[in-house]
Amino acid sequence: MSQKRHERRTEEAAEGDDEGDAPHQQARWYDGDRYEPLLDEKSTDTVTVESSLPDDLTREELTLPDLSEPEVTRHYTRLSQMNYGIDSGPIPLGSCTMKYNPAFTEDVAAHPGNRVHPLRTDEDKQGILGLLYELQETLATVGGMDAVTLQPPAGAAGEFTGIQVAKAYHEANGEGERSEVIVPESAHGTNFASAAMAGYDVVELPSNEDGRVAVDALEAAAGEDTALLMLTNPNTLGLFERDITEIADIVHEAGGLLYYDGANLNSLLGKARPGDMGFDVMHFNLHKTFATPHGGGGPGQGPIGVSADLAPFLPTPQVREADGGYETYEPDHSIGRVHEFMGNWLVLVKAYAYILRHGDVGLERISETAVLNANYLAERIEYEVPYGPFHHEFVASADEDAADVAKAMLDHGVHPPTTKWPEIVDEALMTEPTETESKARLDDLAAAFNAVAATDPEDLAAAPNETTARRIDQADAARNPRLSWHALDDT
Ligand SMILES: Cc1ncc(COP(=O)(O)O)c(C=O)c1O
Repeated sequence: MSQKRHERRTEEAAEGDDEGDAPHQQARWYDGDRYEPLLDEKSTDTVTVESSLPDDLTREELTLPDLSEPEVTRHYTRLSQMNYGIDSGPIPLGSCTMKYNPAFTEDVAAHPGNRVHPLRTDEDKQGILGLLYELQETLATVGGMDAVTLQPPAGAAGEFTGIQVAKAYHEANGEGERSEVIVPESAHGTNFASAAMAGYDVVELPSNEDGRVAVDALEAAAGEDTALLMLTNPNTLGLFERDITEIADIVHEAGGLLYYDGANLNSLLGKARPGDMGFDVMHFNLHKTFATPHGGGGPGQGPIGVSADLAPFLPTPQVREADGGYETYEPDHSIGRVHEFMGNWLVLVKAYAYILRHGDVGLERISETAVLNANYLAERIEYEVPYGPFHHEFVASADEDAADVAKAMLDHGVHPPTTKWPEIVDEALMTEPTETESKARLDDLAAAFNAVAATDPEDLAAAPNETTARRIDQADAARNPRLSWHALDDT
């Protein structure tokens, strides 16, 4: 700030002092022989605001943190240091595909061209619509599907949308009486929930002795009530459903449709396509497969792909080519909207950039590496690993309480795997190293697993010892989170 401006501010402050009002006017910049902060640290002032709001809708006090900028900066830096993220090391959480996402996608997402207001006309948004169209078509090719909607904002939202599309198709064909969705035991938990939320009765299928769908049980379950089978492939044990074409035939012969949970597509990219396996509907988890971290790391996006027969029922709007450009349109029998605009736009931008950067060969390489890494780690750890060979993940069985194993791994400086699920394996340690970890990092993970496997059970039960927070009551932490910055003082 120039000297002239300092003086002006000082004069303003002096005038303000005379009037004895607004808080910023108390600040002095230069008082003759020393500089003082323009704003006092922790300046707390009471300001009376005239308002016409009814008394019962206003409050007397508002508890806001009273902190200076350095205090705020240090608070967030401290929080980040207490945290463990993918920038700190591997996160082998099974079913989550917590891979490292390249920073260039953030640069692409930050491009000002992405900030077009969604309510602008199609004519004004040609670049945006072009990207949506290209991504739609690319995902259709990757999945072997005829049409794609990008709208659902998460994998589970994709499931729910896909089920609604399937339901609308059945209803349009006079088959609306079909009331059941068959879900194998080894499916992702959201499959059961999505089917139930859509109003269907969920029929759970048992697994056979090698961890895959028991085909004879499917034969018995499929019938005139079957609306849909939802198959997670590779399943939550990391296994490819070898009988997938037989499974598809059984369901189709019963008049049902086939739903493919494609959230684990990072192990099949460029190798196999749900559409080619006979599936009618599928969802993609862009935030697992094509950049953007999963979970607390940010919003996701769960596009669905469908076969030509189901395309007229897709959510509106869809994007298509028109007059050398692009336009939005409503499919003939659309189920309507499932999200405002096109969902989480920047997740779509990142996914598109990620796919372009990798190309066909790069995408295939991703799945090869994901599969290699999972199988390498499964071989290196000393816990029992039933089933296999694996695709993107494996599930080991802890000799002790899997939660103790997870806590003890924290003391070895690594993030633990998902625990206690799927229930098909006792004390499950569901582990997905992902394609972005090097052999050296996989060896570190294996060393941590093996050190914990060799630890005395009593010591395991006392872990973790090296972390900021020790054992917490997880249910209480989820139900009564302490989110205030004051809470940190107790940790
Ligand atoms: C196999 C599978 N299906 C569905 C989902 C649900 O996706 P989301 O968490 O985006 O709702 C996940 C999430 O990890 C998954 O792994």
